[in-house]
Amino acid sequence: MQETQHDKLQREGFSSSLGVIAATLGSAVGLGNIWKFPYVTGQNGGAAFILIYLIATLLISMPVMLSELMIGRKTNANAVGALRKLAPQEPWFLLGVSGVLSAFLIMAFYTDVAGWVFSYIFKAAVGTIHSTSPEQTYAVFQGLVSGVGEPLFWQIFVLVVTGTIIMSGVAKGIERVTKILMPVLFVLLFIVDIRSLMLPGASEGLKFLFDPDFSKISFSVVLAALGLAFFKLSVGMGTMTTYGSYIGKEEDLPRIALKVMLSDTLVSIMAGIAIFPAVFAFGFKPNDGPSLLFITIPMVFSSMPFGRPFMVLFFILVAVAATGAMLSLLEVPVAYLVEEHKLTRRVATLGTISAVALVGSTATLSTSLLSDVMFFGKNMFDFYDFLTSNILLPLGGIFFALFVGWRWGYQRMFTEFSNDRHLKNEGFAKIYFFLVKYVAPIAIMLVLLAGLGFLKLK
Ligand code: PFF
Repeated sequence: MQETQHDKLQREGFSSSLGVIAATLGSAVGLGNIWKFPYVTGQNGGAAFILIYLIATLLISMPVMLSELMIGRKTNANAVGALRKLAPQEPWFLLGVSGVLSAFLIMAFYTDVAGWVFSYIFKAAVGTIHSTSPEQTYAVFQGLVSGVGEPLFWQIFVLVVTGTIIMSGVAKGIERVTKILMPVLFVLLFIVDIRSLMLPGASEGLKFLFDPDFSKISFSVVLAALGLAFFKLSVGMGTMTTYGSYIGKEEDLPRIALKVMLSDTLVSIMAGIAIFPAVFAFGFKPNDGPSLLFITIPMVFSSMPFGRPFMVLFFILVAVAATGAMLSLLEVPVAYLVEEHKLTRRVATLGTISAVALVGSTATLSTSLLSDVMFFGKNMFDFYDFLTSNILLPLGGIFFALFVGWRWGYQRMFTEFSNDRHLKNEGFAKIYFFLVKYVAPIAIMLVLLAGLGFLKLK
């Protein structure tokens, strides 16, 4: 019998515990921490938003992450196949389908931003962004996003790089890249933090980050926090189901989820400390939106000794972090196409990246040629972002939680949770089960309805 790609993939997986953590963390840590977390925090008023984000992460997003990891490992299958195996002949597999769609839509704008990061490596190297003048760094960013050829080139570049890694397989490709990256990123962020904290006026940035003002909180702010909590941990869309399917039976999944959540949150807070003191020190507004990272960070580096090489290194690391997250996004449709539609890994990857390039170009051009095209008052970039983070991922979260809480049930869940009772973690399992059975579905539903204006709670 000829061995198909499908069989190969089924037998392959992450090869070590460290590799598992690195790859899962590699999916979670990405542009979400360094680009999205700071700017969404800035738009939603700072510390109070962060507090709600932390609660949403701990009580909702992490339990959903654990649910997905368990479902994936139990079934050894992609997002759609996993639910088909656990609930044959029932419509639960649609949750996997929605996940594949979400991954696709996230990639449409994620590759755009990742492309900006790659281009900033070169801008940093040649000195274009080496400036402490806000007008200058702002003008460079505007120049990039209002162009056509340059951002499209970088977006396709990102797709080719990630596509090539994905084609080389799970353990080899994904694990090897992410294992090296994480510690280095951490150290570099630490250096930027120190520099940013030493800027004159830094304390105002810290106040913004850590001193909550609850008058700024509304249901749409809570929905933004919840959406970010899902996006951050890569949950609600089958990524963690897919990665779970590559994790060995002896690994302690609850512990992995906890470790990934804590490290991921630390990286986000560190990114906030890198950016907000600089925002205030250089006279920007915290609610500047998606450009925040790209206009403030160059100024922090430009104001420090050896700033230029450090800035190049910084953008290289952000690019690698973005790549780690991209790999996990791309793996969702690829694993689905390989396992459910029997395509080879190569064809599945090439097909997916071509389709993302096509749809993604509409996000990339939304600040230039397509700036007049609006959906629900948003340009294409913002529309894909809003649709995924604020609607599809929370909805996915509800159903993953409902699946474990009401369809899979406590006993089967606990067998997977405790590695067939080898781990002594029943207390943790009970809390987790309560969260996914009741808390997560009800809380997400209320926030979703109120945040979208369907329910008036005030
Ligand atoms: N968690 C990634 C980040 O914060 O950058 C983004 C992401 C990756 C979202 C994978 C969803 C996903 F499935």
